[in-house]
Amino acid sequence: MPTPSSTMKAATIHRYGDPDVLQLEEIARPKPAAGEVLVRVQAAGINPVDGKTRRGQGIAGSLKGFPVVLGFDVAGIIAAVGPGVHDFFLDDPVYGMIRFPEEGRAYAQYATAPAAHLARSPASLTPVEAAAVPLAALTAWQALFEGLDLQAGETVLIHAAAGGVGHFAVQLAHLKGARVIGTASAANEDFVRGLGAERVVDYTQGPFEAAVEGVDAVLVTVAGEVRERSLAVLRPGGRLISIVGPVANAGVAKAKGLRIGALRVRPEAGQLRQLAELIDRGEVKPTVSAVFPLAEAAAAHRLSETGKTRGKIVLAIDPA
Ligand SMILES: NC(=O)c1ccc[n+]([C@@H]2O[C@H](COP(=O)([O-])OP(=O)(O)OC[C@H]3O[C@@H](n4cnc5c(N)ncnc54)[C@H](OP(=O)(O)O)[C@@H]3O)[C@@H](O)[C@H]2O)c1
Repeated sequence: MPTPSSTMKAATIHRYGDPDVLQLEEIARPKPAAGEVLVRVQAAGINPVDGKTRRGQGIAGSLKGFPVVLGFDVAGIIAAVGPGVHDFFLDDPVYGMIRFPEEGRAYAQYATAPAAHLARSPASLTPVEAAAVPLAALTAWQALFEGLDLQAGETVLIHAAAGGVGHFAVQLAHLKGARVIGTASAANEDFVRGLGAERVVDYTQGPFEAAVEGVDAVLVTVAGEVRERSLAVLRPGGRLISIVGPVANAGVAKAKGLRIGALRVRPEAGQLRQLAELIDRGEVKPTVSAVFPLAEAAAAHRLSETGKTRGKIVLAIDPA
C-alpha cells in the first residue's frame, strides 16, 4: 500500500537503550524550511555514532526530545525544494551527511536537509553505495588533509584501516602519494592492502608500536589507550589526529615536539563534490559489507557494535 503523502515510515527511538529500542513507525513527513530540501531517502548509512547516540551518548546532548530519528548519511532524490534553494531541483540524485552533530533523521523514507549539506550523488554508485560515503569519507578527508595536512611522500599510520573511516582514509592517503601503514586483524589484511596500504600490522598479534616507528603522521580511530600508545610511533615533530577524543600524555608530546589534535567531522558540500569526482574516476570506492531494510535497523546496529565492520553497513530504504 502506498504511504499516505502526509506520513512516512521511520526507524524511531522513544528512549535510550540497546538496539531493540529501534522501532518502525509511521510518522509525519517533514517539510523543508528555507534553505532546505526534502530528500526521498533511498538508502541511509550506519555510523558508530548512531549506536552511541541510541545509548544516550554520541550526540545525545544535542537532541531536543523523543521520539528521535537517528542517522546522518543519506542518498536519495530531491522530492521538494524549500524557499531560497537555487542549486538543487526536483528529482536530482543527492548524497550527504545531514545536520551533524544535531539530530540527522536519516533513518526514514523522507528527510529534510540544509542544501549546504548535500551534493550530487556520484553517478557511478548505486544509492546504497552512495549512502556509505558521506560521514566516513568526510571524516577521513578532514583528518588527513586538514588535521594532519598530509603530504606526498610522507608515511602515515591509519588505525582500523578496514573500518568505515579507515577504508576511505587508506585510499585518500594513497591517492595523495603518502605511504600508508594500516592496522587491522589478519582477516582484513588483503582488503587493506587492496585499498593501497603498503603494510598492514595485525594489532591482534602484539602491540602495533613494536612493529612501527618514525612515521610522520597517525590517524587514530580507535578509542582508549591506542591514542596514547600511538605517540610512540611518531618521529620527533610528527603529527597525530584523533577522531575518538583528546589524547592525554602532553609530556611525551612536548618532549618529542609532536603536534596533536582532535577532530569532529562537519558537513562540507565542497568536499562531497570532490569525493564524487574521485569516485566517478574510479580512484576511491566505498565498500558496503552488509545491507539491511529499514525495519531491521536494530540488526544493523547490533552488527555495527561488534566492532568488526569491514567498510560500511547501510539501510536500503527504497533503493530501486
Ligand atoms: N570525531 C568524529 O567526527 C568521528 C567521525 C567518524 C567516526 N568517529 C569515531 O571513530 C571510530 C571509528 O569509526 P568507523 O566508522 O571507522 O568504525 P567502524 O567501521 O565500526 O570500525 C570497524 C573496524 O575497526 C577495526 N578495529 C577494531 N578494533 C581495532 C583495533 N584495536 N585496532 C585496529 N583496528 C580495530 C575492525 O577491524 P578488524 O575487524 O580487522 O579488527 C573494523 O574493521 C568510532 O568510534 C566512531 O564513532 C568519529
